[in-house]
Amino acid sequence: MTGRVDLVGGGPGPADLMTVRAMRLIAQAEVLVMDRLGPGHEILDMLGPDVEIIDVGKHPGHHPVPQEEINRILVDRAAAGRRVVRLKGGDPFVFGRGGEEVLVCRTAGIPVTVTPAPSSATAVPQAADIPVTQRGIASAFHVVNGQAPITASTLAAMADETVTTVVLMGVGALGGIVAAARAHGVPDDRPMAFVESGHTPDQRTTRTSLGAALQDAAAVMLRNPAVILIGDVTRAGLLLPVAQVAGPAVA
Ligand SMILES: C[S@@+](CC[C@H](N)C(=O)[O-])C[C@H]1O[C@@H](n2cnc3c(N)ncnc32)[C@H](O)[C@@H]1O
Repeated sequence: MTGRVDLVGGGPGPADLMTVRAMRLIAQAEVLVMDRLGPGHEILDMLGPDVEIIDVGKHPGHHPVPQEEINRILVDRAAAGRRVVRLKGGDPFVFGRGGEEVLVCRTAGIPVTVTPAPSSATAVPQAADIPVTQRGIASAFHVVNGQAPITASTLAAMADETVTTVVLMGVGALGGIVAAARAHGVPDDRPMAFVESGHTPDQRTTRTSLGAALQDAAAVMLRNPAVILIGDVTRAGLLLPVAQVAGPAVA
């Protein structure tokens, strides 16, 4: 009997941001293959004593369980007839290698499903009161992997006042991103924000600007996981009534 693999999005941290379907699949799992980010440890209490838990969490630059080994674990366990949940941080199809894992399962003849979740690309800014789009301010957002080479579309996004640029995995690459934006003519007063550990008790938001970003990142000792945002939606007080931003609160 062939088992199955369910790729399940865990969202950015708290278990209660997962979907009802995600919870149901986790409750039915016989094997749970989990990431470092997301709600992993919070959901362990939901699992029966017989569930095999395999931690394949990656840190930036350190992948103790290589992707090929993760693929092999998924296929081997499912081929042995077991229900495997591959629990991922955020959404499985946003920089999560979810597409590769689906392909590997299908190639091996293993039934596979994907359950979406809030991605840190939008959910982490939201936790810091930063809407990635806002009528009259930003009509588009551009999500990019900070570790990938900076493309012309990312430079164009950073230079466009109507676009919010959202950088995941960008902490180690911040210097290069800032230098490229400045070289491309993005003004130093372009607003920016760093949101670290969004939706967790350690959440911290730093509002800065392109010109001050490196100094401020060093001052706060910016750490992973973090979402880096460039754009006018990061201005402090955007979601407060004008009276509360500019003067005494009006009842
Ligand atoms: C490998 S990517 C995975 C993205 C994930 N699939 C998603 O949709 O959110 C990991 C990056 O997501 C961001 N991230 C994930 N969870 C986060 C959190 N709670 N707070 C801040 N950033 C987070 C960070 O930029 C981190 O480097």
